[in-house]
Order: sequence, then structure tokens, then C-alpha cells
Amino acid sequence: MWFLCVFLHRLLDYRRPEVESLAELFGALEPAEGEIRRHSLQWKLPENHHLDSPFHFVDLPSEKVARNIAKRSILVKGIYELWGEGTTNEELEMAIRRFPEERKLPFLGPESSFRIIVDSFGRVISFQEQNERISGLSYIRFKGRVDLRNPDHKFWLMEVDKYGDNNGLPPIVERRLFFGREVGTADRKLLPTYQLKSRKYIGPTAMDAEIAFLMANQGLAQPGKLIYDPFVGTGSILVAAAHFGAMTMGADIDIKVVRDGRGPDCNIWSNFEQYALPQPLSLLRSDNNLPPWRAGLKEVFDAIICDPPYGVRAGGRKSGGRKLLKGIVGPYTIPDDKRLSHIPSTAPYSLTECINDLLELAARMLVVGGSFV
Ligand SMILES: C[S@@+](CC[C@H](N)C(=O)[O-])C[C@H]1O[C@@H](n2cnc3c(N)ncnc32)[C@H](O)[C@@H]1O
Repeated sequence: MWFLCVFLHRLLDYRRPEVESLAELFGALEPAEGEIRRHSLQWKLPENHHLDSPFHFVDLPSEKVARNIAKRSILVKGIYELWGEGTTNEELEMAIRRFPEERKLPFLGPESSFRIIVDSFGRVISFQEQNERISGLSYIRFKGRVDLRNPDHKFWLMEVDKYGDNNGLPPIVERRLFFGREVGTADRKLLPTYQLKSRKYIGPTAMDAEIAFLMANQGLAQPGKLIYDPFVGTGSILVAAAHFGAMTMGADIDIKVVRDGRGPDCNIWSNFEQYALPQPLSLLRSDNNLPPWRAGLKEVFDAIICDPPYGVRAGGRKSGGRKLLKGIVGPYTIPDDKRLSHIPSTAPYSLTECINDLLELAARMLVVGGSFV
């Protein structure tokens, strides 16, 4: 079934991948024989639209899957059953009239309530214009009661146009109008609830809530899955994963971050408490360059999701600083008399080394078909 998927005009390259991950999460991407995972859905663009357009068409197996994806997504504004589209009001009317009656009638009957919302991309439409456009839809035989607060069915008249250069899109050749029934929209309370400005414990590189939730979606976070962040910092990514019901585990080389935070009520644990989320299974003080796993341990995590030190605000560090400076290369051994309280000194950890170690970690510790975000 084809649906109109309207995206927020943000993080453009991540929009389709997020929907594809969620389609997999909700069982819409059954792998073919011999495949471990299937990653792709079928997509189309409206006529004359560029890949950056907020309007895309996506083929999903059912309305239920579409609703679940929309509800959980960070970058989808809404998913709609398209009743018609066109470049002019006349074309739109013809398309809506052509849309099969048997698919329209269940939503137009006198026993249900409805609301029509007029929306445009890149321009504000005045209240008067909105009313005029709603009146212009009088050829649709709505028999139900209008309910602006809590309608049974919501219909959207959406338009995009070539409003000059300032709508942030590459030029769209023609105006396009869409009319459809809302199947699902995103949870608008999620990001305000988790925004960093009201979080107790944050640091200079704490991950923004929008990206953290987007990553948790790409990592298919859900109950019963174990998600590991090897660069946990203040725990933002794990907070998002825990919100979706996953079990979490994190590590960081900085002992102050994982053990102390800013005191007993302001640390990674208190971030989970703040949102009444289940606490991580464990937080390790561990160096991603010297993984703590016993020999032979493998296939433990369903997803590894992280935000490694890129060296922009803070560079990576790895254990063994003084030894490295002396030119001694090899495994770092802690002297026996210092085992209980020893914290190794650190040396710079290049991004290349860090990525290599992450790939090794993923290859070893992810379950087959696990996600690495
Ligand atoms: C970009 S920050 C992660 C921030 C985190 N996502 C958050 O929301 O607070 C990178 C983290 O990696 C840690 N780190 C740097 N080198 C490391 C290493 N070799 N092993 C583990 N953690 C390391 C830093 O201490 C820092 O907390």
C-alpha cells in the first residue's frame, strides 16, 4: 500500500533510513531467504520533486505499520492515505473524485466526527485563506460532525509551492497540492520531555535529544534488547534507548563521568531516575582501545550505539600514556600493588584507531543481524 510520508525538513539524509529501520522494527521488512536483514522499502517522489522534498511516497504493508512508524519516528511529521494530488485545485478535485468511493465512505459517514487541517510548506497561510481552502473542498461529501479538538478522522490539505528561494529546498518546478487522511503522526511530547536544557546531568558533549532518539530508532531499541554505548559520557543515547524499553549498558574511559558525575544526585544514574527509566545494567570504566571482555565472549549486544570522541570539542584518550611516551608498545599491565585504585594515565587516541576498535567491537560483540549506529 502506498502512503504519503511527510517529513520534517531536518537531517535530510537520515529521514528515509529512520523509516526503514522502524519498518524493520515493526516487522515490515521480512528478510528474503538467505538474507539476515532486509533494509529497503520502495519509495517514490511526487512529480517534479527533489529528494530533499518533505513529501515522499512509501510502500508499507498495512495502515497499522504506517501508524506505528509515524508514532515512533523523530523525522516523520505524519503518514497519510492520499486521496488526491495535483498542481491546481481543479486537478486535485478530479483526483479526489477518482479516489474509490469505498475507500472514502467509511470516513465520511454521519456517525463520525472529523477535522480538516490546512498546512503549507515554506509559507504561513492566513486564517482566512485556510477557511477559503476548506470551503473549496465542499465537493467531498462529509456527513459527520466537525470536532476541532478530538475528531475521529483528520484530513489534511497540504501544499508546497515555489515561494522564491527561501523555503530551503532546491527549486520545485511546480506547485503541488495533496489531500489525505491522517494515518499516524509523531509523538510531539517526546523531545520537549527529554530536551537537554531540563536534564540534570549534562556535559559539554552531551548528545542532543533529537539525535539520541533518532539513533535509538536506528538501533531498533525495544524491550528485550541489550544496547551498549562504549563512549557513554552523560548517558544521553542510553536514556533514549531505555525510553523505548531496551536494557542498556555503557562504558567510558573517564572515571569521573561513570563513577562520580557532579555528585550523588547529579550523575548518569540520576538522569535515568529523572525520567523514571530503568537504570543501566552496568556502567564500566573502560577503554575502548583495551576492551574488558574475557576471551571467547562474543555476540552479546543487540545494538552498539555511540557518539565517539571526534576530537572537535574533546579528543579521544587511550590508556597507557607514560608507557607509550617511553616508546613501549604492547599490552598495558597494572602493577599488582596498585590494582585496586589504579587509574591508568592516558595518551591521545586517534579517530582512525577509535573507528578500527569500534569495528572490531561490533564484529565480535554484536549478535548476528545486530545494529551498529
Ligand atoms: C562525544 S563524548 C560522548 C558523549 C555522550 N554521548 C553524552 O551524551 O554525554 C565521547 C566520550 O568518549 C569518552 N572517551 C574518550 N576516549 C575513550 C576511550 N578510549 N574509551 C572509552 N571512552 C572514551 C570521553 O570521556 C567522552 O565521555
